[in-house]
Order: sequence, then structure tokens, then C-alpha cells
Amino acid sequence: MKVRKPSWDYSASLPRWCRTYPEYSQVVNVASLTLPYLEPYLNTVMRRAQAKLGPAHPLNADISLFCKQEAAHYLQHDAYNEALRRAGYARLPQFEERFRAHFARLLEERSLKFNCAYSLGFESIGPIYTEWWFEQTADVMADADPSVVSLWKWHLAEEFEHRTVAWDVYQELFGGYHYRIYGLRAFLRDLEMINGAAVKYLLSEDAKLMTSEEQRVSRQRFAEIRRRESAFVNSRLRKVMSRSYTPYRLREPKGVAQLLQKIDAAA
Ligand SMILES: [Fe+2]
Ligand SMILES: [Fe+2]
Repeated sequence: MKVRKPSWDYSASLPRWCRTYPEYSQVVNVASLTLPYLEPYLNTVMRRAQAKLGPAHPLNADISLFCKQEAAHYLQHDAYNEALRRAGYARLPQFEERFRAHFARLLEERSLKFNCAYSLGFESIGPIYTEWWFEQTADVMADADPSVVSLWKWHLAEEFEHRTVAWDVYQELFGGYHYRIYGLRAFLRDLEMINGAAVKYLLSEDAKLMTSEEQRVSRQRFAEIRRRESAFVNSRLRKVMSRSYTPYRLREPKGVAQLLQKIDAAA
């Protein structure tokens, strides 16, 4: 595990950067928009856990690297999010405020145990999306903006790389299968609630510029990619939810090591 700080130029990136499934761009854009709120939240949770573990604990080095990787991620996403803000979706600041308030509330009102299980929920979804991006979406991303695809592939390769950190922290401080699943479900429920409204808004803004026939095709395309994504994600979530799950046994998706080597060589 190491810190890498690649950067890409998003000045020419359009909000609908995924040309084959333009509607899917907005699903991914909303995820990007949440990250400068979500990932600092993860880092605060991990720092609180680190304080509880004490300065001599062997997990400290991994936690510090985890936090540095996450910080590099959200800085890059914020740079991309600027391109999105410039595209003129007037209500975006309202959604960003909702994300900020949500994570601030969790830090203020919930226990460290809850926040560790919730963070582990997010970190368990990371490797699922690593596999989705590296192995399942070559056709979806074929004509997509290479800067945006590079950002996500780097991010998800590192999510795979640090997949055991939140797991180790949760197991070390608290442990317990049922509470792990409780944190995961809480995370998935919140994600759907806070992201869903923003995706709906962005798609409805895009639809205003379409004829009714284009809107029909757009709805169909969106339903198709969402069905495909859900089928894949749910198949992997079932494994995450099993008692025998551990991120230590996950297979590294094809292309992850090569991508990280390429970034290291270019640094
Ligand atoms: Fe990240
Ligand atoms: Fe992460």
C-alpha cells in the first residue's frame, strides 16, 4: 500500500462523459460529488479508531496510509466535481450541503462502533466496484472520457489495495457479524437515499433538452445499465453479507496491479 498522487485534466470533461450510456455518467457523477464529504468522514472515523487503539498498535501504519490514499482520492474528485459544477446544474450546491450535513451528523451523533461498521460498509463496496470497472464495463466505457475513466480506475485500484484496513479496525475494536451487517445495511440505505435524489435531479435536467422520443430512449438506456449494474453488485453483496466473508480472500481483478505499476512508473 502506498500513496500516489496522479492527476488528470478534466477541463474538457462533459457531465455526460460516458457516451455509450450517458445516463450512467450521472450516477457516477453523483458518487464523485459525495466523495469529498464521505472520504474525509472515513478519515475522521479511522483517526478516532487510531486514538482508541493507542500509539503502539500495529494497525497504525496501515490506518495512516489509508487516510493518505483517501485524501488523495477526494482531492482528485473535487477537481473533477469542479467541471460538473461549471456545467450549470443550479441545485448541485443543495445536494452537496445535504452530503456534508449527513456525514457531520454521523460523526456528531453516532458511536465509534456504528461509524466503524458504517465505514466498513463503504469499504466493502469498494472492491465490488473495482471488479465492475476493471472486468465488467469495457463496452460501457469504450468511448468514455479517458480522464474520468482513469480517475475512477486509479481510485478503485487503491480501494482494492486498502480493502482490509477498515475490516481490521472493526474486527480489532469491536467485531461481531450482526453489527457488521447492520452497518453495511445502514450505509446502503443512506447511499440510496442521498444519492438517488441527486441522480434523479441531474437526469431530469438533461431530459429538458430532449424530444419526447429521446427521453423514451434515454429512460430505456438508463434502466438497462442500472439492471446490469444491480445484478452484478447484488451477486457480490450476497458474498459480503455471508458469515464467511473476509476481504483477505478476495481475488484481485484483472488489470489492477498493471494500472498501479503504470502510475508508479510515471510518478
Ligand atoms: Fe477512496
Ligand atoms: Fe477506501
